[in-house]
Amino acid sequence: MQPFCVSIRTLLLSVLLSRPGEGQFQVIGPREPVVAFVGEEVVVSCHLNPSIDAQNMEVRWYRNDPSGLVHYYGTSQDHMDQQMPEYQGRTKFLKENITKGLVALRIHHIRPSDEGEYVCFFESSTFYNKAQFKVLVTVSGTAPHIHIEPGNRMDMKMTCTSTGWYPEPEVQWRELQGPHLAPAFETKKIEENGLFHVESSITADKNSRADVSCVIRNLILSVEKEVHVSVADTLFPEDCPWAVGFAVFLSLLAFGATISVLFVCTRKAKGSLKKKHGELVYF
Ligand SMILES: *[C@@H]1O[C@H](CO)[C@@H](O)[C@H](O)[C@H]1NC(C)=O
Repeated sequence: MQPFCVSIRTLLLSVLLSRPGEGQFQVIGPREPVVAFVGEEVVVSCHLNPSIDAQNMEVRWYRNDPSGLVHYYGTSQDHMDQQMPEYQGRTKFLKENITKGLVALRIHHIRPSDEGEYVCFFESSTFYNKAQFKVLVTVSGTAPHIHIEPGNRMDMKMTCTSTGWYPEPEVQWRELQGPHLAPAFETKKIEENGLFHVESSITADKNSRADVSCVIRNLILSVEKEVHVSVADTLFPEDCPWAVGFAVFLSLLAFGATISVLFVCTRKAKGSLKKKHGELVYF
């Protein structure tokens, strides 16, 4: 409430008392959105034009509405009591250039919820003005990881997972020298820390020799992380070499027996694929 009352008072004062132009100023904030990294700090600055001394002005930084105070500086001191709880202990008003009309605010430990519109508002005894600017919060997550498990008879299911992204990343499956593959299943969920966890699956033919990769992309930073897996690596005899030899031996005895041992081995190999390829594809 209070900022509003003060503003109305100042508005009346400026209408009644000021001669046009005198004591007036423009506030200039960041023209481009400010990119802030999760967990790090960001400095946003606003300055007056003309560059007049702002030492005796009140400077407020707020979110969408003036009662959402991020930081309040007035009568030569910080007023922390009206600050929104989520910014407590995370802001520092930088006033080394305040006599030239330039101030800045440092926000520590950036979180996803810091993203959005901000206002810096200057108020002198006769005039007030403000600038609005935008803060974009971002972070790139972990390198993706592909997990493979057997699907139906000739299929296998590949699942790509990665965590710790903001904002929502783009997920793409690619076949080497091929088109993008459409995922059969995809989820992007926000975890407790406000960051995105993504999971995307495709189904691939066991006999295909394709090289497949999963790419996760942060669209703000144009950063991508990729993991690559070769489907040809997942052939069965590698999983069960002893049984192949054993089967050959048995084939000397009975052709029928060979068939059944291979069948058993194949089923076993399916079961062990999951673990084996979990390790294989870590880069
Ligand atoms: C104050 O001005 C100096 C010189 O222009 C500059 O290097 C410094 O970064 C400014 N400080 C802030 C907090 O903006």
